[in-house]
Amino acid sequence: MAKCLWGAAMSAAQAEGAYLEDGKGLDIFDTLDQSRDRAVKRFPRPKEGDYYPSHVGPDFYHHMEEDLRLMKECGLECFRTSFSWARIFPTGLETEPNEKGLQFYDRMIDLCRQYEIEPIITLSHLEMPYELFETTGGWEDQRCIDSFLRYAVTVFERYKGKIRYYITFNEINCTIHFPLIVGVGVDRSENPVQCKYQATHHVMVANCLAVRELRRIDPEARIGAMTAYGPVYPLTPDPKDVKKAEEVERENLFVSDTLVRGHYPYYMKRFMQENGIELKVTPEDEELIRDWRIDFLAMSYYNTNAETAGKQAQASGGNLFGGVKNPYLQETEWGWQIDPLGIRIMLNKLAERYDNFPLMIVENGIGARDVVENGEIHDEYRIDYLREHLKQVQEALHDGVNLLAYTMWSFIDLVSASGGKMSKRYGLVYVDRDDEGQGTNRRICKDSYYWYRDYIRERREAEKDSP
Ligand code: BG6
Repeated sequence: MAKCLWGAAMSAAQAEGAYLEDGKGLDIFDTLDQSRDRAVKRFPRPKEGDYYPSHVGPDFYHHMEEDLRLMKECGLECFRTSFSWARIFPTGLETEPNEKGLQFYDRMIDLCRQYEIEPIITLSHLEMPYELFETTGGWEDQRCIDSFLRYAVTVFERYKGKIRYYITFNEINCTIHFPLIVGVGVDRSENPVQCKYQATHHVMVANCLAVRELRRIDPEARIGAMTAYGPVYPLTPDPKDVKKAEEVERENLFVSDTLVRGHYPYYMKRFMQENGIELKVTPEDEELIRDWRIDFLAMSYYNTNAETAGKQAQASGGNLFGGVKNPYLQETEWGWQIDPLGIRIMLNKLAERYDNFPLMIVENGIGARDVVENGEIHDEYRIDYLREHLKQVQEALHDGVNLLAYTMWSFIDLVSASGGKMSKRYGLVYVDRDDEGQGTNRRICKDSYYWYRDYIRERREAEKDSP
């Protein structure tokens, strides 16, 4: 059975706070708050007096040492987080990086190494420098590729030999499903569908250029891309429902299909034609996609959805994409359908689709309104969620899936991506901060923290005994 690293995840934009400290520039995530509908509104520059939970959040920037110590005590083998692009290139337009921003990450990576926690670093997790977005209008503009590459090369050179695993983009298919939150300016485009797919193409080109640069600078390191995924089930055996589920699935997977296989999948040709999309793809782009492939595919898994071609069914929620409710599943308060078996189905599906290509699960967890009772948090629902999902991950490992790492979401409570709030909590560690900005940022380990610590310990023991 493959050796899998067990760890936890978070992202810079959702956890660091310190949003303009030590030279960091404003990034697009800093301009989103819970009162705004992210799906349709343009990013407004924050005004004096506006309150944005992410500007402070759980304040990892000032609690980094404490949080890493808690990770070590929990026995984490790896820690997946992101670097903030705007902390390193404050506007995204300059040629020289912000040394103070890099120094923060120097300390973080050194501490990870000291604690023997493998850092898995995402270069862009739901953020890009705000000025870059304002100047270019987002990823439809090729200047974003140059800026991203400058940033990637700076990081690869600085952390050569220290970081072994990189992820270029978090949920790279967000460009299709949640474009504004990742810097795709659909709101300012006359043709939003064209904009989304052209921007996605540019993000893929940026990904491949980063792969090429990493091979040159630090050939020992490994680099992957990440996709948001959850299998799509047909609501019934009606072939029309099966076809519909297949179409939605393809829309979700065409980016990973392209990056793993080195070319756009055959089915995208008809899709583009029927949707009036005219992609500008140069022969150089095609070569890049063919020649500079990722080493592993990472994914987030929170839920599955069902799909139907027109049958009466209630809509369901979910991470990035909804569908319709599956009558066999329970759901969270936010309508995300809980499906532990789905994680095994997903892993096997991807292993099959990509010929047992290396995979990583870098997000999996449950958002809930945790309650503090006498200084303790009894989050048995989170323990249930993790236990049942991890059982199925173990099954998938027995099935022979090549899983490099599993990092649950999230280590500490942080600002939710879709709602912008602290109150939708995912952490193993509670952070005393509410949606209105009240709180001490004190850390309290939840019951799930201790449960996960024991789980990792048991896994380690079991692996010692296994051949
Ligand atoms: C993923 C993102 O989409 O889902 C995370 O990569 C995010 O950044 C997570 O936090 C959970 O979503 P939400 O909206 O509940 O925070």
